[in-house]
Amino acid sequence: MTTAIATAVWTAIWLMLPAYVTNASAAFFGGRTPIDLGAHLGRNRVLGDGKTYEGLSRGCTTGFLCGIFQHLYNGSFGSFPLCIVVLAALTLGAMFGDLAGSFVKRRLSLRRGTPLPVVDQLDFVGGAWLLLLLLAPDWFISNFSTEVMIVVILITPLLHLLTNFAGFKLGLKDVPW
Ligand code: CTP
Ligand code: MG
Repeated sequence: MTTAIATAVWTAIWLMLPAYVTNASAAFFGGRTPIDLGAHLGRNRVLGDGKTYEGLSRGCTTGFLCGIFQHLYNGSFGSFPLCIVVLAALTLGAMFGDLAGSFVKRRLSLRRGTPLPVVDQLDFVGGAWLLLLLLAPDWFISNFSTEVMIVVILITPLLHLLTNFAGFKLGLKDVPW
């Protein structure tokens, strides 16, 4: 029982790592050019200054490289060329989900950086899964069992809190969340 849980936790972290690294490196590297180029939708920005082209491209590149190294290590992401599609879905999907989360936050009139629990922690997971389901459905279904998906939903907010706290301690972030 405990080994089954340990296996599910390990699988969840390993398979989601390219998405985690994408999200963390977008925040770590940041950027300057807002994706919405300053445009508004009604009173509020479409996405806001927290979503930049540089963050998106640096995040995806770093996450993709991480996934390539993981794949060279144990081939987790499927045969070639499927592995490229899977890694593209995990990284681009994570960034797409993060954009969708900010889009929702701006529609709720929440300014950049205002916390929105659940959405902040899981938007990129939803984006990655959605793109996997669209682009590599067989790989997604055979690798993300129900148990693994539950573990991802439970541990991602914890990892998010931990990395944000580390970023705060390192002086990279102004707030510990
Ligand atoms: N970031 C970026 N480009 C992206 C995603 C993130 O430059 N596409 C950087 C920004 O510096 C952003 C930081 O990563 O401030 C943290 O991302 P996130 O917490 O998602 O953004 P917030 O600033 O909190 O903004 P929002 O309220 O829209 O979530
Ligand atoms: Mg966000």
